[in-house]
Amino acid sequence: MTRLTLAIAKGRLQAGALALLQQAGLRFSNDSLSTRRLAVEDESGCYRLIFVKPADVPVYVEHGVADCGIVGRDVLLECEPDLLQPLALDVGACRIVVAARSETICNQFGMLRVATKYPRIAAKHFGARGIAVDLIELSGSVELAPVLGLADCIVDLVETGRTLTENGLRIVEVIAQSSARLVVNRASYQLKAEALGQFIRTIAAASQRRAIVD
Ligand code: PRP
Repeated sequence: MTRLTLAIAKGRLQAGALALLQQAGLRFSNDSLSTRRLAVEDESGCYRLIFVKPADVPVYVEHGVADCGIVGRDVLLECEPDLLQPLALDVGACRIVVAARSETICNQFGMLRVATKYPRIAAKHFGARGIAVDLIELSGSVELAPVLGLADCIVDLVETGRTLTENGLRIVEVIAQSSARLVVNRASYQLKAEALGQFIRTIAAASQRRAIVD
């Protein structure tokens, strides 16, 4: 029996990813998913799930500690890991946007101050437009930055739009669409071809997958 290890991004994608795995036929005891255990096995023993921070999913999969993982496209655009991405999954749809206090960004200090958890995405986006930016890297609650005058705008995820609205911010521009991706370690794809091939087919069917066209 070939056992596969899957790295699952904790947080916004976790519930959807687990539901997808269950739709694909993986079974977990109620105990294993309701605890704070960071590594659990399915009932067949064929799959081990590890739960890690979104930005760490590519790290575990690139190093081969996990054979594959489920993580947002936002993370992959930010860290550009050397991984296979065979599937876009029908989980965690959201947008990466520029947002500010009004639809036109007010820039009082010459260089646009941009607060973000995504410095590479932001740098690439404004760089392509020839706009000089001062990137202010934050690790969460990014919407506060324009409200408190730390930044002129933010680059962040929007799912329902509620966090923006409740903090008086508006979308200025959509940079990219994001949803969960299945990522696979290149060596595992060769060495565990049969097990991974079967897993990818099962997940694809369960998620009514669409080919990655972007
Ligand atoms: C994300 C994102 C926004 C919020 C958007 O933050 O950075 O803050 O969700 O969701 P909404 O459009 O549905 O309101 P997350 O919950 O991951 O927490 P964080 O601010 O600590 O990063």
